[in-house]
Amino acid sequence: MRVGCLRGLLLLLLVAGMPVSFAGFQLQQQQHKWPVPYRRFDYRPKTDPYCQARYTFCPTGGPIPVMKDEDVIEVYRLQAPVWEFKYGDLLGHLNIMHDAIGFKSSLTGKNYTMEWYELFQLGNCTFPHLRPDMDAPFWCNQGAACFYEGIDDLHWKENGTLVLVTTISGTIFNQMAKWVKYDNETGIYYETWTVQSSPDKHAVVWFEAYECSKFILRTYQKLADLGAVFSKIQTNYTSIILFSGEPIYLGNETNIFGPPGNKTVAAAVRAFFSPFKPPQSIKEFFFNVLKIVDQVVLNHQFYLFYNLEYWLLPMKFPYIKITYEEIPLPNIDNT
Ligand SMILES: *[C@@H]1O[C@H](CO)[C@@H](O)[C@H](O)[C@H]1NC(C)=O
Ligand SMILES: *[C@@H]1O[C@H](CO)[C@@H](O)[C@H](O)[C@H]1NC(C)=O
Ligand SMILES: *[C@@H]1O[C@H](CO)[C@@H](O)[C@H](O)[C@H]1NC(C)=O
Ligand SMILES: *[C@@H]1O[C@H](CO)[C@@H](O)[C@H](O)[C@H]1NC(C)=O
Ligand SMILES: *[C@@H]1O[C@H](CO)[C@@H](O)[C@H](O)[C@H]1NC(C)=O
Ligand SMILES: *[C@@H]1O[C@H](CO)[C@@H](O)[C@H](O)[C@H]1NC(C)=O
Ligand SMILES: *[C@@H]1O[C@H](CO)[C@@H](O)[C@H](O)[C@H]1NC(C)=O
Repeated sequence: MRVGCLRGLLLLLLVAGMPVSFAGFQLQQQQHKWPVPYRRFDYRPKTDPYCQARYTFCPTGGPIPVMKDEDVIEVYRLQAPVWEFKYGDLLGHLNIMHDAIGFKSSLTGKNYTMEWYELFQLGNCTFPHLRPDMDAPFWCNQGAACFYEGIDDLHWKENGTLVLVTTISGTIFNQMAKWVKYDNETGIYYETWTVQSSPDKHAVVWFEAYECSKFILRTYQKLADLGAVFSKIQTNYTSIILFSGEPIYLGNETNIFGPPGNKTVAAAVRAFFSPFKPPQSIKEFFFNVLKIVDQVVLNHQFYLFYNLEYWLLPMKFPYIKITYEEIPLPNIDNT
């Protein structure tokens, strides 16, 4: 399914758990609200023609059909490992999972899959392009919802999960469809990383990821708000977490790369992302991995692009973790 990001993952695995020393920017720190709220937009802009998908986004998708109010619709939790076809079960063991949601109409017998994912794959959502004609890094980082007819039972069942979580009316389904439309038009940019102060349960969360599983969680919550009652099963999800001290706000593209911007900061941001500039030979790639490991681990620095703004993360041990932990289905506590 989602391919094209092996690069990013290799980096993650290499970076995990290495020793360090510190050198940081002296920037003015302001008060911020944590976690930084994910920004919603009035509408989804057209993607830039520079961004070209290697695999068509949502090739068989379309608008969500209207169901009869009296329909009874089964809702399925769908989860399967990413890249299972290409890389065997290695990533399955790391529990890097992709989440989706299935629906089955009892009136028509038709079933459907709904998911949210990157328009140009994870690599493009995680790292920008450095274009010779532009100072600012260039991002192809939109994500969107995709709704299509059919559920590929084998795909979800064999190495993952296909389980009924609730049954809803056609009325609730149609209300959910309205919300999906709103959510899809206003939540536009994919955010790969969760950033928090430590692995501790009570850690401060600085940034929340915005990826496929978060869409599924929002959808479940919306269905619960509309009256759906969920079964009591354990539901775990993948998070890719960075650990840092309090993030330092750097500004948006204009602030940093425009005429009044600080050239030192602009150069540092560009340098940080330069290992990921395509195209790359294998040799170039390994050189680049070493370079970024050097920045993150030796310099304790990571530049995060979130809500179209740049932040400097003063990274700290254990730097990065891939977790697969429970986030319960809604309304279990208040039934
Ligand atoms: C630019 O940023 C660097 C690093 O934070 C800082 O040392 C320097 O004083 C800044 N320069 C200006 C002109 O603000
Ligand atoms: C990432 O974006 C670049 C630039 O548009 C494009 O050439 C490449 O195909 C994209 N990668 C994938 C996997 O879609
Ligand atoms: C399940 O995992 C096995 C072993 O990695 C793989 O060969 C097979 O193709 C996977 N099946 C599906 C439907 O993804
Ligand atoms: C979400 O938006 C994308 C991009 O505009 C579109 O291709 C897709 O069909 C939309 N999804 C739904 C479920 O409406
Ligand atoms: C979805 O529909 C397909 C085609 O009719 C069928 O093979 C599959 O078993 C159905 N899956 C579910 C979960 O209803
Ligand atoms: C960046 O922020 C400034 C305000 O600090 C705003 O005027 C400008 O339009 C923003 N630029 C972008 C590209 O969002
Ligand atoms: C699911 O999450 C729970 C609690 O977060 C954890 O104890 C459990 O080991 C996880 N299950 C798997 C298969 O990793």
